[in-house]
Amino acid sequence: MDILKAVEILKNDGVVGMPTETVYGLAADIKSPEGIDKIFQTKKRPFFDPLIVHIAHLVQIKSVVSNFHELAQFLAEKYWPGPLTMVLPRHKSLNKKITSGLENVGVRFPKHPIAQKLIITLNSPVAAPSANLFGKTSPTTAEHVVNEFSGAVSVLDGGPCEVGIESTVIGFNEHLTEVHIYRPGAITKKMIQEALNKEFVRQVIVMEAPSPAAPGQLQHHYMPKIPLILVPTQINIEDENFKNELKTKLKLPSVVYNEIKIAHDPVICAREIYEQLREASLSKATVLVIFTHDFMKDGIWDAIMDRLNKAASLKF
Ligand code: TXA
Ligand code: MG
Repeated sequence: MDILKAVEILKNDGVVGMPTETVYGLAADIKSPEGIDKIFQTKKRPFFDPLIVHIAHLVQIKSVVSNFHELAQFLAEKYWPGPLTMVLPRHKSLNKKITSGLENVGVRFPKHPIAQKLIITLNSPVAAPSANLFGKTSPTTAEHVVNEFSGAVSVLDGGPCEVGIESTVIGFNEHLTEVHIYRPGAITKKMIQEALNKEFVRQVIVMEAPSPAAPGQLQHHYMPKIPLILVPTQINIEDENFKNELKTKLKLPSVVYNEIKIAHDPVICAREIYEQLREASLSKATVLVIFTHDFMKDGIWDAIMDRLNKAASLKF
């Protein structure tokens, strides 16, 4: 499918698969109530989980957000286009279903040239959650999206996603003295804090905080079809007691492992991890195993471990 066809579908109140640098999104025109409804129906997503609005020009934020404050402007200048979503006061004209009735809206300016071209050609921002069934692993190729919805969704093929995990989602406290990280991602807490310390006019503290819209933070999310376990390298998974523990806890008749060997470079690990989880899910194994190492913390590892912890059925 080409961009013009995708624009036509969006103009006719449909949804399309859209590549972004993080993961593929399931996009609809923010001005199409039917399109927005179709996103929720297609994903089987509950209406309480708000959608991210994607823009491709800063001018477009005026129709989405009512207060693009100086702190958000500073971060936009630093990290847009890129994998950062900012939760800001919604514009009153915005369809309430996009924000699940909340007064704030998540906005992102993706870097992927095809996402930008789609939004510019449509001449309207699009709402787009990750293009997977609710609670499942996010897609990082066009093929993943086609398979996820059994061919029912047309997809713009932009190649494999460069980042590979979903954007960092941040919000702000009322007095704009704090940045709250609701979902960690490739733009890390440390990056944001350092940029603010160095160049912002006043002191702002960056911290992890629970999302006011909880869902992306649901305890189990991104779950593969075969149960995944996270195991420190010191544990011997061939030990019979360990296997018996798995049988009981995971209610399995037998234990057949498939070890997912993840890259030790976090940038590459993030890029590959969802594809690896999908592929491993097609195997005949009964348990997927990822060995965890002490170095898997800080920076992008925090985002990767956030996703793996939610994908895992058991952690040791
Ligand atoms: O990288 C990404 O962010 C991808 C690509 C397609 O842009 N999109 C994505 O969307 O991951 P989704 O819907 O799967 O995750 C959006 C997250 C959810 O955790 C949601 O709760 C949070 O953003 N979110 C959206 N709007 C919000 C709001 N108004 N307030 C708080 N959290 C919000
Ligand atoms: Mg998602």
